[in-house]
Amino acid sequence: MHTDNSWGHTVMFQHSTIRSAVCQRLTAAAVAFLLAGVGSTHAQQANRQPATASPLITTDPSGLLQTNAPGGSIDSSNPFFQSFGSNGRSCNSCHRQAQGWSITPDELRQRFTKTNGNDPIFALVDGAVSPVADVSSVYARRIAYAMLLSRGVVRIGMPIPANAEFRLTKVDDPYGYASARELSLFRRPLPSTNLIWDTAVMWDGRETAAPFKPPMDAGIDHEDLLESLASQARDAILGHEQAGAAPGAAIIDQIVDFETHLFTAQLSDQDAGQLNHSNGMGGANILAQQRFWIGINDVLGNDPTAEPFDENAMRLFDDWNDPNAQFNHDPGSRARAAVARGQQLFNTLPIAITGVGGLNDATGQAVIHGTCSTCHDSPNIGNHSVALPINIGIADASRRTPDMPLYTLTNYSTGQTVQTTDPGLALRTGKWADIGKFKGPILRGVAARAPYFHNGSAAALGDVVDFYNTRFNINITAQQKHDLVAFLSAL
Ligand code: HEC
Ligand code: HEC
Repeated sequence: MHTDNSWGHTVMFQHSTIRSAVCQRLTAAAVAFLLAGVGSTHAQQANRQPATASPLITTDPSGLLQTNAPGGSIDSSNPFFQSFGSNGRSCNSCHRQAQGWSITPDELRQRFTKTNGNDPIFALVDGAVSPVADVSSVYARRIAYAMLLSRGVVRIGMPIPANAEFRLTKVDDPYGYASARELSLFRRPLPSTNLIWDTAVMWDGRETAAPFKPPMDAGIDHEDLLESLASQARDAILGHEQAGAAPGAAIIDQIVDFETHLFTAQLSDQDAGQLNHSNGMGGANILAQQRFWIGINDVLGNDPTAEPFDENAMRLFDDWNDPNAQFNHDPGSRARAAVARGQQLFNTLPIAITGVGGLNDATGQAVIHGTCSTCHDSPNIGNHSVALPINIGIADASRRTPDMPLYTLTNYSTGQTVQTTDPGLALRTGKWADIGKFKGPILRGVAARAPYFHNGSAAALGDVVDFYNTRFNINITAQQKHDLVAFLSAL
C-alpha cells in the first residue's frame, strides 16, 4: 500500500520539497483512511468536545479539500467555535471547513433533518426569509428557512442610507417584510479562509476600514486588513450571534488570528488525481506560499512595482499542458490535460467586456478586450488585487427568480428607475452609480462551496460558465465549458 501520510501535516514546504514529495497517487486505501478521519471530526464538533487535532483534509463533490493551519490542526478551542450570543451560534455555524469555510445547501439540509430545523443556524434574525416568519412547527420551519435550504444564503438586512441619491419606490418581497428601513438581501457566506489576500471585506466591501494601500504584503504589513476583520468579527457576533455586547479585544484578536492563518484549496480531484502531482501547484500547502501584495498584477495599472499586467494570472497547472492528450490512454493524464486547457482558457479566452459598471465607465472604454483574468487578476488566487467593486449583472431584474425580492429604486434628480434584487455597494455609499456592485471573491477552494455568486444564483460551476457565456456572448463550446469547469474544480 502506498499512502501519503504527509497530507495531514501542515508544514511550510519550500517549492522544491513539495515537488519531490508529492509524486504519490491517490489510492483507494488512502481515501478510506481519510474518510474515516473526516467522519470522526464531524462527530466531535457536533458533541462540542474540547480541542483535538482534526484532519485538515475533507471530502467535497469533486475530490478532497485541504486546509493548511498552524501546527497541523484546526484549533477548535478558538473562540471562532464559541457562541457569544443568545441564539447558540458561533462563526462555525456559517463557516465550515468541509464546505470551504462557507456553507452548502446539501449540508444544511442534513443539519435541518438531524435537528428538525433547530440547529442554531436556523434562527429568525437572518436565517429565515423574514425575521417574523412562522417557525412554530417543523413544517413551518422548512418554509421559513427555505432560502438557506435551497441556496445556502443568509438574509442581510440593510436600510436605504439617509444620504442616498435614490429612494425605494417599490418592493416586491415574496416574504412580505422588506421596506426602505430594512431591505432583505440574500447573500452567500464568503469563506473565512485565504483572508490575507482579501482586498475588500464583505461582498459590498462594507467592513473594509479604508482602501487597502500598497505595499501591504500579505502576512507582513496588513494592519488595515486586520482592523477590518476585527470590526467584521465584532459585527458578526452582535448581528448573526445576537450578542448583547461584543467580547473584548483579546477574544476578537484570537478569532482574527485564527481565520487569517487558514489557507484552503482543492488537494485532489476525482478525475485528475492529486493536484500537486507531476509538478502541479494545487493544494493548500503550496497556496500558503503564494506571493501577493496589494495591486500585484493589476490590470488597471495599480501594481506598485509598475510591472505590466500579465493575463496569465493562473500558473498552477502549466506543467500539465499536453497537446497529445487525446492519444493518451491514462484517464488521469487526460483529465490533467483538461485542467491545463481550462487554465489556459481562464487566462486567454477572449471576452468582450461591456456594460460593467465600475469597469467600462471607469476606464472610459465601451469594450474591454479581456479574459477571465482581467477581473480575477491576483496571481493563483483569483480575486482582484485592488478593491474593485463592479456590476457584472448578477442582481439585475432580468435574472431575478421568484424566490428573490425585487426592489425598484428611483433616482431623486433624474427620475430614472432601476430594478435590482440587491443594490450592493449603493447601500453603503448611497450612490446611484454603485447599484449592483460587488467584489469578485477569491476563487481557491471553490469546488467545496457551491452555489456561486453573492446570491447563490449559479448552482454549480457549469452554471457560472453559462452565466459568463450569455452575459458576454462568448460562444463557448461544450469542450471549453468542460475544461473551464475542470480547472475551476481544481482550485
Ligand atoms: C448566520 C451566518 C453567519 C455567521 C454566524 C457568521 N457569518 Fe461570517 N459571513 C456570513 C455572510 C452571509 C457573509 C457575507 C455577507 C455580506 O457580504 O454581506 C459573511 C462574511 C464573512 C467574512 C468576509 C470574508 C470576505 O472575504 O470578505 C468573514 C471574514 C466572516 N464572515 C467571518 C465571520 C466570523 C469571524 C464570524 C463569527 C464571529 C462569522 N463570520 C459568523 C454569514 C455568517
Ligand atoms: C468583468 C469582470 C469579470 C470577468 C470578465 C469574470 N469575472 Fe468572475 N466574477 C466577477 C465578479 C464581480 C464576481 C462576483 C459577482 C457577484 O457575485 O455579484 C465574480 C464571481 C465569479 C465566481 C464565483 C465565486 C464565488 O465564490 O461565488 C466564479 C467561479 C468566477 N467569477 C469565475 C469566472 C470565470 C471562469 C470567468 C471567465 C469565463 C470570469 N469569472 C470572468 C468578475 C468577473
